[in-house]
Amino acid sequence: MENRNKILKVENLAVSYGPINAINSLNLEINQGELVALIGSNGAGKTSLLKAIIGIHRAQKGQIWFLGKDIARQPTDRIVNSGLCLIPEGHIIFSSMTVLENLQLGAYHSFGDFDQNLDRVFTYFPVLKGRLKQTAGTLSGGEQQMLAIGRALMYKPKLILLDEPSLGLAPKIVADIFDIIVELNKEGYSILVAEQNAKKALECSSRCYVMRTGEIVLTGFSRDIMNNPKIRQAYLGIG
Ligand SMILES: Nc1ncnc2c1ncn2[C@@H]1O[C@H](COP(=O)(O)OP(=O)(O)OP(=O)(O)O)[C@@H](O)[C@H]1O
Ligand SMILES: [Mg+2]
Repeated sequence: MENRNKILKVENLAVSYGPINAINSLNLEINQGELVALIGSNGAGKTSLLKAIIGIHRAQKGQIWFLGKDIARQPTDRIVNSGLCLIPEGHIIFSSMTVLENLQLGAYHSFGDFDQNLDRVFTYFPVLKGRLKQTAGTLSGGEQQMLAIGRALMYKPKLILLDEPSLGLAPKIVADIFDIIVELNKEGYSILVAEQNAKKALECSSRCYVMRTGEIVLTGFSRDIMNNPKIRQAYLGIG
């Protein structure tokens, strides 16, 4: 990969499920320290792209460069070990385990000290500190999303892929979660956040990609897109 500043570069990626092409010739890149939004409506292919990057779905074509290495044909555990993490949509946690056990599992691939990482998670999500013994499935939806993010932070990933963090959450909780995403980015985390909530995703990110039926149909600085009513209307359906 020619540019050392890029943490991720996806080139000509194609992913299909049998006869269904979910992603076609897709190109996308993320610089070190960037917060980038991936916007698109139902079925656009956002989750398919994130799962292909982390190796859950296999790329039929193309390259995925992470920290200068092509990971497109590597197994997921190796990709995760190299510092890439996916926080899946639907705030997936191990619901029958306690909050602490969930966080311990997150530390499985950890690069750092467990207690230090736990303290860092508590600074972002103080609510989790008092809930360590609580069964994770009994947390509220917002708390479960916080736990899902906290679990990922337990191993200090170099790039976070975050799928629909706003899904199913009340507006106040969505605002809190996005504040934390911005905070994490300020701390130096590189983040790609997939969202149907275009407004929220544009507000928090510096650049964005808009996906439609497996392709990137628009990319640019989020501020420019927010400030252009025609583009907002045409691509995002927000007036
Ligand atoms: N395992 C699968 N088998 C077959 N088709 C699939 C599979 N997963 C996704 N698809 C199809 O691929 C396309 C893209 O789906 P994907 O879940 O990536 O979209 P999305 O942008 O994440 O949508 P949403 O915002 O609803 O989560 C859809 O047409 C979907 O039906
Ligand atoms: Mg999805």
